[in-house]
Amino acid sequence: MKTKTLLMPLDMHLHLRDGVMLETVAPLSAYSFSGAIIMPNLVPPVTTLDDVVEYKKRVMSAVPNDYFEPYMTLFYKNYSKSFLESVADEITAIKLYPDGATTNSDGGVASFDIEKMRETLETMAELEIPLCVHGESAGFVMDREAEFMSVYELLAKNFPKLKIIMEHITTKDAVEMLDKYDNLYATITVHHLLLTLDDVIGGMMMPHHFCKPIAKRPEDLDALLSIALEAHPKVMFGSDSAPHPQHKKETCGCAAGVFTAPIALQLLCEIFDQYGKLDNLQAFVSDNAQNIYGICPEFKEVTLENRPFEVPTSYGNVVPMYAGETINWAIESVE
Ligand code: DOR
Ligand code: ZN
Repeated sequence: MKTKTLLMPLDMHLHLRDGVMLETVAPLSAYSFSGAIIMPNLVPPVTTLDDVVEYKKRVMSAVPNDYFEPYMTLFYKNYSKSFLESVADEITAIKLYPDGATTNSDGGVASFDIEKMRETLETMAELEIPLCVHGESAGFVMDREAEFMSVYELLAKNFPKLKIIMEHITTKDAVEMLDKYDNLYATITVHHLLLTLDDVIGGMMMPHHFCKPIAKRPEDLDALLSIALEAHPKVMFGSDSAPHPQHKKETCGCAAGVFTAPIALQLLCEIFDQYGKLDNLQAFVSDNAQNIYGICPEFKEVTLENRPFEVPTSYGNVVPMYAGETINWAIESVE
């Protein structure tokens, strides 16, 4: 049977939430990943040193048995230099949300006034704190990411020493932007390597495929596949696994977010294998992120097998992508 061993897999964009949800989902990521960048969009968001330190403790206590490094983030505000210096040792990145762009993003950036952002972004560059960005404008839903490219250009040009990560890119436009500026990087989710808008609303409406940014056109999917499968050195895996309770997904006014954490590595093996690119998966799922972020995760070795695996219908009260369906790779062992 075909197998694939991955060393220190990393999830560079993960939502763990808090409370009971944190207890439900954190062990699932901790099982198969060495570490993850933990998103700060709690209610209220993570904005103080105390918030970060306390949230990290809650994450660690939700993963009692497995080694797992939570790389913590702050919710972007225009922070002072002295505040950033005081918090730098506790965080790996800062996550910028445009105000109201997605789940729990209220209080994010309302206008991209470079002069108002200068102190924060220059200090982040000095302290080598990357800026992770949810890159969507307030325009028509299919065009939001493409419209946001001008903001990425503005940030990349004005802050050439700042590492800027275009999170969960979904378009050909973003793929083309990547190599225009040395300081731009990107994460890609597994669901955006599988879905187009057709899989969300082309037939019956599929709430568990609904997320922000929404899955786009076939040509966008092809562009994402082209850089992921080659493990372009500026691209990393970030699941954007975003759990919501079943009643918030299967309802009028469905929350945005696809829950993939427990099946992400299996699906990635399936995709990379299908295109004959399994050899590049290690770079996509760990090595590139280690280089970009300068992190050195603890040892973890995950071996997957090319055999059928039936995705559970739920994990607690959270329904995963492909619930009840059979996928073609399974986790065999974790050491
Ligand atoms: O679909 C999404 N869900 N996109 C995001 O950017 C946030 C996430 C969440 O927190 O649920
Ligand atoms: Zn996210």
